[in-house]
Amino acid sequence: MARLKLAVLVSGSGTNLQALIDACKEPGFPAEIVQVVSNRPGVTALERAAGAGIPTDVINHKAFTTRVAFDAAIHAVLEASGADLVCLAGFMRLFTDGFVERWRDRMINIHPSLLPAFPGRHTHKRALDAGVRFTGCTVHYVRPEMDTGPIIVQAALPVHPDDTVERLRERVLSAEHRSYPLAVRLIAEGRVRVIDERAVIDDALVPGAAMLNPRER
Ligand code: GRF
Repeated sequence: MARLKLAVLVSGSGTNLQALIDACKEPGFPAEIVQVVSNRPGVTALERAAGAGIPTDVINHKAFTTRVAFDAAIHAVLEASGADLVCLAGFMRLFTDGFVERWRDRMINIHPSLLPAFPGRHTHKRALDAGVRFTGCTVHYVRPEMDTGPIIVQAALPVHPDDTVERLRERVLSAEHRSYPLAVRLIAEGRVRVIDERAVIDDALVPGAAMLNPRER
């Protein structure tokens, strides 16, 4: 079966991109990365892509006077790449509504919290300040409003009493690296359908028991 073609949009270190690169190397993984686009030149994510032999493009937002023009440039590269699915992986620009609609149900994002809690930035600090017992990450289809859209995969992890922003970020990030390839796999296998703005997954394996934090004795 033909593999799903991915374009990955990045702005920084690209550890999620790396997780997708690694997943795509596994035999039988149903997707391949055909294009990486960064809005910032010189970022590590671009090195990761080049190292894996993936075509890269830099579309520097600073070179554009309007967001519409920037989005049009990104759109042109994505179209030319033949991508079926766009994966935002630490991409730090907001798209115009028109762009988002053009890629409706064909563009996904990963966010380092259990959405709809803590959309936006500084998620780990806000989770710690709120004293939540669990946090995690979310892979979701992109909608015009930031960090909203049908949820495909979430990973939940307990917050430890001695957690710092840095420790939490590290643990959430490693959960991200498992969640993003899982979401891509499910989509590529044709198992995800958006119905009434919720992502329904056929034959999903669901964990059984509740996890309590703190633990019961
Ligand atoms: C991740 O935490 C991602 O969820 C967020 O930005 C970070 C990007 O990390 N949107 P990386 O560039 O994939 O290493």
